[in-house]
Parts: sequence; structure tokens; C-alpha cells
Amino acid sequence: PRSIWLSRHGESEFNLSGQIGGDADLSPRGQLYARALPDLVRKSAGDLPLTVWTSTLKRTGQTARFLPFEKLSWKALDELDSGVCDSLTYAEIEQKYPADFKSRDDDKYNYRYLGGESYRDVVIRLEPIIMELERSENILIVTHQAVLRCIYAYFMGMNQEQSPWMEVPLHCLIKLTPRAYGTVEDRLHANI
Ligand code: F6P
Repeated sequence: PRSIWLSRHGESEFNLSGQIGGDADLSPRGQLYARALPDLVRKSAGDLPLTVWTSTLKRTGQTARFLPFEKLSWKALDELDSGVCDSLTYAEIEQKYPADFKSRDDDKYNYRYLGGESYRDVVIRLEPIIMELERSENILIVTHQAVLRCIYAYFMGMNQEQSPWMEVPLHCLIKLTPRAYGTVEDRLHANI
């Protein structure tokens, strides 16, 4: 059976400071995840040679760096574009753009950041990725929280409108195996 592996990038410097978006490097802990990932993948996929898809942002490339596989980076896997709010913390967004902050909470799926994207936009830009995934085998995707939520929801057959609220932890490798009766999920957490 064909499986798909998914992971968020390791913890970044922006994750530590609570800033969204940006193109930060991995934190020291995030680098430990990058070091741990080859073993985690071996535990989950055995000797199967995978192909790794990353975004074009530094933190996903740095996370995939020690994987002994072919790598491909896709702009379509970049994190949801938070427009004018890029590099701000949620507290700063609430202070600078209170009405927007509330609109996002009211309808997170459809809310589009000023000069940026909504989850709905991300789902649309992921269509080519999903199509390519459907006809590929043994792909490991290292991407970002919002993007991972959308891909995960697609393969789990969930309503996309729920995906913005889904919990996707850092430092966890998710294996999804589509079956006739539904997708089987297996999660491995890195011990770091
Ligand atoms: O904080 C990490 C991050 O990937 C941000 O870059 C991004 O804006 C955010 O998560 C997406 O999560 P949410 O839609 O819950 O704000």
C-alpha cells in the first residue's frame, strides 16, 4: 500500500519568539530534530527510498538536510502568506489590526491576511501538489503548519473548513496510508 509521510519543519527561531511567517533558521532544538529525522524515517519507512519535498523556505530545507534522499523544493509548499502580518506575533497582530484579528477567529478558513492568503487560498494552490502526490510513490513532505493541515485534511477526508484548527505538533513524523475504508494514520514523535 502506498503511504505518504508528512512532517512540519523543526522548531525555528520564529517559533521560539512567537513570530509568524518569515524565513528564519532552525533553533538549536529544531536542528536536533533534523539530526533525528533520518532515524525516525527509517523506523517508519524501513529501507524504502523516499523522495523528499520541501518548501522554498530555509527551515524546511534545513530540516531535510540529513535525509539521504532526493529532494525537491516547491513554492506551493511555502507557509500561508500572512501579508502585512508577516513576522509579527499574535499579540502584535491583535494590537495593530484588532478587527482583522477578530475576523480571523470568526472564520479562520476564509480569512485572508491583508496582502496575503487565506486557508482557502492555500487549499487551491495545493491542487497541483495533491495531483502530483496522487501519482507519485514514497513521498515525504516537510512543510509548514497551515500547509500540513490542508494536506492532512485532504488525505483524511476531513472537511477543509475544520483544518485551520487542527493540532499538528512539531517534531512528529506522520505516516498516512490510504485504504479502501479510509486512511490509516501512524505518528512517531522524536525524542528530543
Ligand atoms: O507559527 C508558525 C506558523 O507556521 C506561522 O508561520 C503561520 O502563520 C501559522 O503557523 C499558521 O497557523 P495559524 O493559521 O493557526 O495561525
